[in-house]
Amino acid sequence: MTAPLKHSEPVVVDVALGERTYDILIGRDILASLGERIARLRPGARTAIVTDRNVARYWLEKTEASLAAAGIASSRIIADEGEGSKSYATLEWVCEALIAAKIERNDLVIALGGGVVGDLAGFAAAIVRRGVDFVQVPTSLLAQVDSSVGGKTGINSPKGKNLIGAFHQPVLVVADTAVLDTLPPRQFRSGYAEVAKYGVLGDEAFFGWLEQNHADIARGGSAREHAIATSCRAKAAIVARDERETGERALLNLGHTFGHALEAATGFSDRLFHGEGVAIGMVLAAEFSAELGMISRQDAARIARHLAEAGLPTHLQDIAGFAQEGLADADALMALMAQDKKVKRGRLTFILLEAIGRAVIAPNVEPPLVRDFLKAKLASKG
Ligand code: GLY
Repeated sequence: MTAPLKHSEPVVVDVALGERTYDILIGRDILASLGERIARLRPGARTAIVTDRNVARYWLEKTEASLAAAGIASSRIIADEGEGSKSYATLEWVCEALIAAKIERNDLVIALGGGVVGDLAGFAAAIVRRGVDFVQVPTSLLAQVDSSVGGKTGINSPKGKNLIGAFHQPVLVVADTAVLDTLPPRQFRSGYAEVAKYGVLGDEAFFGWLEQNHADIARGGSAREHAIATSCRAKAAIVARDERETGERALLNLGHTFGHALEAATGFSDRLFHGEGVAIGMVLAAEFSAELGMISRQDAARIARHLAEAGLPTHLQDIAGFAQEGLADADALMALMAQDKKVKRGRLTFILLEAIGRAVIAPNVEPPLVRDFLKAKLASKG
């Protein structure tokens, strides 16, 4: 792990994918430079900004002004905010709007928003005219450290999350860390779960640094850039080695198999944000690993302690409404996990832990072991 960086220029993280290599730029107030960067990257390109109503209220005019100052024509496509926009209907609407805006193959789609906008706009860019390049301008912490990097794009099927999609890498990612100042604290904390994930899965020193610095990351101090850059570097390295998730990229799903099932069990509602599901999922993965004798109970407890200190839920009982409405039972959670994309011929693959900083892919985990573990967790006092 490197020491915290003190740059006035953005930190540049390279995603090395041969001729599809691109830069992630991370820095405070760099949104204003978007136009000049795009003009240099793709002279003469026209652009269409895909965003949502909420992000548009804060950042659309600034983005358009930056493009206009660099002489770049842009049109705007504004979807409803929320997971519901990752739908066939909204995808169709965005694709038709891109065609109506006369976006051609040498033009650019700009995804200005959080994970929903990035996934939706990226997928529309992947399929309109058989592929238009796109730029990610992530406006949530979760999108800056995870979903804007690595080229996974897509929408949800009524049968499950992210089941329809394509790998389509952006040509540039511009992560302005000042944009995160306007995020509701709960949404910021939810994104923080993905930051902590990089420490837990592959970098114990980073995890230790996060234990010391998480409050400064939330406040927007220099630790924020360092945390985002370190997370992006970790993801970029894995994506460069395994772009299509045939192997180690699956490690990035730490906490997600349990987490997605919990999100589904709570109806993808405000009861549980994605990152909150990942936080509980990571703790469950650590505790399950401890149960299997793979990681010490102290390390599993250390992970839970840090996530709780960062204000995240860590146990099933922390899910809003657990006491009143309950949650699905263990069998129902198992059925939801069976819908996961990572299921291969009915066998569940989990990402488990041998230590903090050492995650492993565990294919063929025996379902009865998971069911009994979940039963016990649902019955415990948290
Ligand atoms: N969010 C996990 C991945 O990009 O592979």
